[in-house]
Amino acid sequence: MDIVSIIEKKKLGRELSDAEIRYFTMGAAQRSIADYQLAALLMAIRLNGMTREETVRLTLAMAQSGDMVDLSMIPGVPTDKHSTGGVGDTTTLILAPLVAACGVPVAKMSGRGLGHTGGTLDKLESITGMRVSLSMDAFIAQVQRIGLAVIGQSENLAPADKELYALRDVTSTVDSLPLIASSIMSKKLASGAQAIVLDVKTGSGALMQTLEESINLAQAMVRIGTDAGRRVVALVTDMGEPLGSHVGNALEVKEAIDVLSGRVTGPLLQVSLALGAQMLVAAYAAATADEAEGKLLYALNTGGGLQKLRDMIAAQGGDPRVCDDVSLLPQANVVRNVPAPSEGFIQSMQTTHLGTLAQHIGAGRREKTDVIDHSVGFVLRRRIGDYVDAGEPLATVYCKNDEDADLAELSIQNAIPILRRKAPPLKLVHAIVEADRVTRL
Ligand code: URA
Ligand code: CA
Repeated sequence: MDIVSIIEKKKLGRELSDAEIRYFTMGAAQRSIADYQLAALLMAIRLNGMTREETVRLTLAMAQSGDMVDLSMIPGVPTDKHSTGGVGDTTTLILAPLVAACGVPVAKMSGRGLGHTGGTLDKLESITGMRVSLSMDAFIAQVQRIGLAVIGQSENLAPADKELYALRDVTSTVDSLPLIASSIMSKKLASGAQAIVLDVKTGSGALMQTLEESINLAQAMVRIGTDAGRRVVALVTDMGEPLGSHVGNALEVKEAIDVLSGRVTGPLLQVSLALGAQMLVAAYAAATADEAEGKLLYALNTGGGLQKLRDMIAAQGGDPRVCDDVSLLPQANVVRNVPAPSEGFIQSMQTTHLGTLAQHIGAGRREKTDVIDHSVGFVLRRRIGDYVDAGEPLATVYCKNDEDADLAELSIQNAIPILRRKAPPLKLVHAIVEADRVTRL
């Protein structure tokens, strides 16, 4: 077998065999095929697509290019949730403790922030002492003991994806449905969960901005997981504005604790409940989503969810007192309100710009080696459809210095158009996607 004939075949739009897909995937993982040849192949895939069978083969080959985590020592159905990436989207910190409090083990490997989107690991590291890299044995032992652990991906998880993704990033080949679906699912399959709930975002802050593209991506991922023998379902949820009002690491931890304490409700809680309910159903802990939501609400109202978060923070070396006193989280130097420049209704939000702003003022990395400032970010005081008077606070910014606060103020005003005409609030959940069925809501 040789790489040039594989590139040639895909250039002509033909289907690659399992052996051919394994050949280039292993070549990527072992760095034995030149980057320019892999890049040519990726562009041929981007332009000519892949069949459902090819996409499953690629996913399995990338998953098996590294460690396959074995969670069979965990009693029950280990369950995971994955989001395609959002802004102010801290559902993991809310639903993982709630689901665990309902008796379903949550063994979750999360990521760091990527581009304009935030990452659960960076958020957790706002908590003093918190460790997010555990050995596999310690990870499994913690889930056995308290039913919940959230850690970083092991080094050797889907190494072929790591190489191919880095090439895609610099060759304009990220936006390929089979490549995105196989990239995400290879890591999920390798992480070992038997039940997986996918949160596929749609709208101005999402990877896929139109509903149809988002549904197609969701269906491709659900089919891959189902074909690989896992129980998988996806919700397509809205990222036309940040999901919660808080954007930034410590700020999002604070908001998650506020939600788990019952002090805050709204879209972040609603989407967390909708995803968590699918996790309980996928793990056979409830027969219907309605029954599952009832169980999650019980865990919320009795404090069971907040207690699980406390247990997890303590187990991973963090200071669990943050759950009772959010002022223990890092505090920013400069806190300033951003006035609305005119009166009217919030029409839309440039959510990607808002996420990029958070990244630029230090909540995310622009280069791999950048160090995050956990205290910075902003809190939005209005949502799409809300009315605001001129001069009333549109947001509050939390910054390192006045220069950043000036930038944040201007960027937020520019990213949020206000007009006299009314605008409807966004729908939160657009569709439930199963392998053979799409239910539009
Ligand atoms: N996230 C991934 O892990 N892979 C992609 O291809 C896109 C988003
Ligand atoms: Ca997330």
